[in-house]
Amino acid sequence: MADKIEQLRTLKEQAHLGGGQARIDAQHAKGKLTARERLTVLLDEGSFRETDMLARHRSTRFGLEKQRPLGDGVVTGTGTIHGRTVCVFSQDFTVFGGSLSEVHAEKICKIMDLAMKIGAPVIGLNDSGGARIQEGVVSLGGYADIFLRNTMASGVVPQISVVLGPCAGGAVYSPALTDFIFMTKGTSYMFVTGPDVVKTVTHEEVTFEELGGADTHAERSGVAHFALENEIECLLAVRKMMSYVPMNNREQPPRRTTSDSPTRLNDKLRKIVPANPNTPYDMRDVIRDVVDEADFFEVHAGYATNIIVGFATLDGRPIGIVANQPASLAGVLDINSSIKGARFVRFCDAFNIPLVVFEDVPGFLPGTDQEWRGIIRHGAKLLYAFCEATVPKVTVITRKAYGGAYDVMNSKHIRGDYNVAWPTAEIAVMGAKGAVEILYRKDIDKAESPADKAKELQDSYNEQFANPYEAAERGYIDDVIEPQYTRSELIRALRVLETKRDSNPWKKHGNIPL
Ligand code: HXC
Repeated sequence: MADKIEQLRTLKEQAHLGGGQARIDAQHAKGKLTARERLTVLLDEGSFRETDMLARHRSTRFGLEKQRPLGDGVVTGTGTIHGRTVCVFSQDFTVFGGSLSEVHAEKICKIMDLAMKIGAPVIGLNDSGGARIQEGVVSLGGYADIFLRNTMASGVVPQISVVLGPCAGGAVYSPALTDFIFMTKGTSYMFVTGPDVVKTVTHEEVTFEELGGADTHAERSGVAHFALENEIECLLAVRKMMSYVPMNNREQPPRRTTSDSPTRLNDKLRKIVPANPNTPYDMRDVIRDVVDEADFFEVHAGYATNIIVGFATLDGRPIGIVANQPASLAGVLDINSSIKGARFVRFCDAFNIPLVVFEDVPGFLPGTDQEWRGIIRHGAKLLYAFCEATVPKVTVITRKAYGGAYDVMNSKHIRGDYNVAWPTAEIAVMGAKGAVEILYRKDIDKAESPADKAKELQDSYNEQFANPYEAAERGYIDDVIEPQYTRSELIRALRVLETKRDSNPWKKHGNIPL
């Protein structure tokens, strides 16, 4: 027996070495951790249970039969984060560059199948040279097997992709199908075709980092939701995200204890909205003042900054926040912000996370660029997402709620459960200047002093329409509240809504305007 145990131990020691010490050193020299080191940062201490550590590839071409490392380039298994089970895979760049073979794909599929059976999130750490070239189409089939599982798991268990090295070609589509993508600056990149192919086809000269680095995807393309400085920060950010999400779509998000009083007043918010309706303020200040311990976990912070999305808790209950940002493009809705908001709303709805909306929106962004690129279709995504969401949905209108954007931003008409406005709210078809120009252009032109006439008409419009009271009169908002009570009112509303049950008509699936 002793020799058999010795043999097992030797095998496991070999498996732990992956592609060997020299390649591990090379990985460290690039500022990267190994596949297993990453899992020790991501998971609770000592919680990782590895599966298929002894799997080997079955390929016999290109001399591969002589090179059959244990594990075949991916570490898979289960562990816990904050005490709750997650299924993980972590590609090992030291083994054939983390490239994906038949067996490598089978291991990932197996852990994803387990995740679906037990209702646990899937977290994939990607660091791979793509399809294992020696295995040809078998490797491509392996990718497709993963893509199918990503799609089937979508909306059933949370799926998070962490890109910590190369992720190129068709391989990008597994992360793209998951809920959130985390990247590290300087050491990760994602693209469909690399700089060399780009140069040949379009004659553009571009670096790896410019084409598909973390900042590019977190700010420009919107493909990545997070760009972190290094791997440790990145993996700790994933742990933080997991503290807001339930294990699966049948569970409620985890409630935590907080020392922040549910009746704490938001005195600071009494003065936050500037007297001049065109002066910006930072909606993040509002969010931080309202949520527990000022702790706001922003998602997609560098992309479409005119809308803010992210997670926080209120009296310990996780919430998803969607907020217009007056400090960026006056908080206007455009194509990118609509898509960003819609995707976040759908994630929260799929995973039972109540939505809290802070609204200050002057409307949709005008212009040929937006119209020709399809603001109609893309703006409809945000509208669709709010309409179909059945989680508790509350809205606070801080200032502007103009035009179609008033309807879109979780209005009462599209099943907002608790909609309130501050006394500074302006709920109207449009701002005074635009309205007066359309309605009274001839009168203004004829006036002795057109500027004075315009001002007089604008003042009168503001008095009649730039307030929350007409909407309150009709029940389009449930209440007008003093800003200092925002936190306590939201907590009260979410408590009441905890037992909310709502549903949509039976359908195979809806047809969101993609
Ligand atoms: C087999 C691979 C490999 C691959 C890398 N390696 N990529 N082995 N298949 N796809 C091996 C290398 O031979 C090397 O082995 C080790 O991994 C490390 O690779 P290096 O090139 O030394 O590392 P580095 O200089 O850091 O470059 C990393 C890289 C480069 C940029 C990823 O390796 C590369 O360009 N690889 C090929 C990428 C690619 O074209 N993949 C196919 C894409 S198409 P040794 O033994 O020397 O350590 C695709 C389709 C997916 O993926 C379709 C899905 C539908």
